[in-house]
Amino acid sequence: MTAADIRAWCAMNGCNYQTVTNKLTEYKVGRGKWNLEVTKETVEELETTYNGPAALPAVEQNLIPDKDDTFVQFGNFTDIKKIIKSGLFYPTFVTGLSGNGKTFSIEQACAQLGRELIRVNITVETDEDDLIGGFRLVNGETVWHNGPVIEALQRGAVLLLDEIDLASNKILCLQSVLEGKGVFLKKIGKFVAPTDGFQVFATANTKGKGSEDGRFIGTNVLNEAFLERFPVTFEQEYPTTAIEQRILNKICKDEEFCKRLADWADIIRKTFYDGGIEEIISTRRLVHIVKAYSIFNDKAKAIQVCVNRFDDETKQAFLELYDKVDADFVMPVDETPTL
Ligand SMILES: Nc1ncnc2c1ncn2[C@@H]1O[C@H](COP(=O)(O)OP(=O)(O)OP(=O)(O)O)[C@@H](O)[C@H]1O
Ligand SMILES: [Mg+2]
Repeated sequence: MTAADIRAWCAMNGCNYQTVTNKLTEYKVGRGKWNLEVTKETVEELETTYNGPAALPAVEQNLIPDKDDTFVQFGNFTDIKKIIKSGLFYPTFVTGLSGNGKTFSIEQACAQLGRELIRVNITVETDEDDLIGGFRLVNGETVWHNGPVIEALQRGAVLLLDEIDLASNKILCLQSVLEGKGVFLKKIGKFVAPTDGFQVFATANTKGKGSEDGRFIGTNVLNEAFLERFPVTFEQEYPTTAIEQRILNKICKDEEFCKRLADWADIIRKTFYDGGIEEIISTRRLVHIVKAYSIFNDKAKAIQVCVNRFDDETKQAFLELYDKVDADFVMPVDETPTL
């Protein structure tokens, strides 16, 4: 490159010739001559930067989830497992009310099949940089950092976009990935194709159309073209009483208590669907109750501390319903002093 080339470049970019040439002293090969050729070493350096995520080298991490022996199969689990096992790329949407095992089933399906899982919790702030990747400052240098989507594409892992309905339109950067076509990393000029086994699951409390009753604050209406890229949707229901009892029994040995809790949740859910109550008891909450029971060894207290999060009216309705399923239950006395 000659002085004339540099002057022309400076004129185009509004830079000072002296400043630019001062920065290029390292590449000066003669009077008015610079060698700015992209050498093999430079390319290798860029490749290393691209391949080296800022944290632990990816290959050394084991992303297969651990099997959890408290897990009980039910509902869509077998189908979810079949999809993963098929090896076909088949984006799957799982929708259902909170705490009924959507995330847990996908995690356990991967654990049982020995497949790697990368779970990304989506929020309204999630953007291309979080998903695809971006430049990070490491030891004073800017290096490219693969996002979880690229990591999953390259490893042929299962990608779980958890709580997708909280996302903004920024997730549209995943359109090509959802078509099974990989993605072009425009910032570093590199195309990443999906490796065999790559799979996408998305979970949500809604169907991506928002939440009219306001129960799921923060959920957004998702772009129709985005939703169209999911060929199948599973509607996850709460487990049956028999299954729910088995789930609770894995944690709590008091069979009688587990049965009553499962019956209680069933009545609450029926009342909820009939419009008689505004809140619901999830499987997750039942698990919280049996865990509280193992701590306090007091059933009434375990139920009470776990339903305290609801408003007074709902709380009272829940306790009264429990009283109906358990004859031995003594309704907790309200300790708030009356004036
Ligand atoms: N099949 C199951 N076997 C055992 N426990 C379960 C099962 N399903 C749900 N649970 C219990 O319920 C909890 C909540 O499950 P999970 O996190 O999968 O719910 P979710 O449907 O993803 O809820 P959210 O919509 O709030 O994310 C689990 O941590 C576990 O304690
Ligand atoms: Mg979940």
